[in-house]
Amino acid sequence: MLILGVNSKPKLSNETFALLRDIIYAKCGIFFPEGKKYFLEMRLVRRLEEMNLKSFEDYYYFLTYDSQKVKELHNLFNSIVTNETSFFRDLPQLEAFRKGVVPKAMEEKAKAGGKTLKLWSAACSTGEEPLTLAMMLMEDGVQARGWNIDILASDISDNVLKPAAAGVYEKYSLRNTPDNYLKKYFQQNGDSYVASSKVRELVKYRKVNLIDSIEMRMIKGMDIIFCRNVLIYFDDNSKKKVISHLYDSLNKGGYLFVGFSESLHNITRLFRPVSIERSVVYQKV
Ligand SMILES: C[S@@+](CC[C@H](N)C(=O)[O-])C[C@H]1O[C@@H](n2cnc3c(N)ncnc32)[C@H](O)[C@@H]1O
Repeated sequence: MLILGVNSKPKLSNETFALLRDIIYAKCGIFFPEGKKYFLEMRLVRRLEEMNLKSFEDYYYFLTYDSQKVKELHNLFNSIVTNETSFFRDLPQLEAFRKGVVPKAMEEKAKAGGKTLKLWSAACSTGEEPLTLAMMLMEDGVQARGWNIDILASDISDNVLKPAAAGVYEKYSLRNTPDNYLKKYFQQNGDSYVASSKVRELVKYRKVNLIDSIEMRMIKGMDIIFCRNVLIYFDDNSKKKVISHLYDSLNKGGYLFVGFSESLHNITRLFRPVSIERSVVYQKV
């Protein structure tokens, strides 16, 4: 094990920072400006320790030339991404989803003879967002009216997809969850809350990198996409790429939610911004 004393701690030089930053940018679209060098150094020093590497240069060579480089890239993603999320995050957007978007999407689908609502939580972290959507649809009786609900939940990081699929949460994740949902859709087990199987079975989990055109091309026919609180990590080029992938995955007339503090202004004109319940939602025209 590498011992990290004050003087022996590996230092990230500006040159190696630039090399690592370029790899990260090319592979997952996340851009680290100069000001985030320390953040990257702190996150990656743990990987160096785990791999028993003595310098960031060694790490760069590993990522570039080693036969295990693809596997290590996934460990790298897992180390640098921010997974903050919670149930019922940004309630006004969820009200727009429930009261405006879902009824409109169902009306359009019904006209075309469809009875399946296809949703995608496209950077789902530990799964609170897709389960929130599933519970809201159940609560509003969408299935009871004879509809199928099909929710894809994806993320770049396996570190979050495994707990997402297990569906076990601490009270903190549920801090904004209304009591009636907590009682109806969770079972308490000591300090943990287990999401009920009738909610979990509506959601399928899959590893998807939003920046990867080949992976994204496989996902089609979505009615509603949530891609919240991930665009903030991308520069404009990556945002444009991701948004054009999401556009292709949506049905005509379908809806896209981005984070409350995120916007598609100057990124694309393909979508029409629609104001619903005091939230802006983007519709594919
Ligand atoms: C802050 S969480 C947002 C979770 C949830 N959407 C929400 O709003 O609460 C951001 C997530 O984006 C994921 N992510 C970052 N870059 C990604 C990429 N290129 N492709 C897919 N997911 C990515 C991270 O792994 C992380 O789980």
